[in-house]
Amino acid sequence: MDAHALNKIDRLSKPENSSSTWWRDAHGLQLKMCDALEEIADSLPANIDRQMCIVTAKCMASLMREAHKMEETVLFSQLEALPDRPVEFSATVERLKFEHFADECYAEEIAERLLYLGAGGTDVNMEATGYMLRGFFEALRRHIAFEQEHLVRLLAATEEAAASNSAASDRH
Ligand SMILES: [Fe+2]
Repeated sequence: MDAHALNKIDRLSKPENSSSTWWRDAHGLQLKMCDALEEIADSLPANIDRQMCIVTAKCMASLMREAHKMEETVLFSQLEALPDRPVEFSATVERLKFEHFADECYAEEIAERLLYLGAGGTDVNMEATGYMLRGFFEALRRHIAFEQEHLVRLLAATEEAAASNSAASDRH
C-alpha cells in the first residue's frame, strides 16, 4: 500500500459509481492491503520495510470500516430485494457480518503491531506476528472471493439487465 491508497479509501465514502463497481473497487483495495500484509509477513524478522508497516497500519481501519458500512447498509439490502438472490441469503449475510466484526477486531490488533514494528520496535514474537498476519489476510481473501463469486456477480448482472431494459424502453 502506498500513500495514494489513503485518497482512494477516502473516495469510497462518497460512492459515485454503480454498486457493483464500487464493490469491486473496495475489494481491490482490500486485496492490495492483503498483498502488503503478505509482503510484510515474508519480510519478518530481518527485512522489515518500516514505512510500509506504518502506511498499511494507517489504511487498515478506515478501509475495513468504509467497506463494511456500505456492504451492511446498502449492498446486502439491494441483494435481499432480488427475486433470484442466493438460497438461504439471510444466513449468509449473518455469517458475512460476523466475519466483518471479527476482521475489524483482528485488524485493530494487527495495525497496533505494525505501528510498533514501523516505529522500530523489536520486542515482539516475530513468528507469532507472521502467523497473525497470515491468518488475517488468508481469511480476508476467502471472504472477498466468496462475495465476488456469489454476490458482486449477481448484483452486476442485475444492473446490466436493468440498464438494457431501460435502453429498450427508451427506444419505444
Ligand atoms: Fe464483506
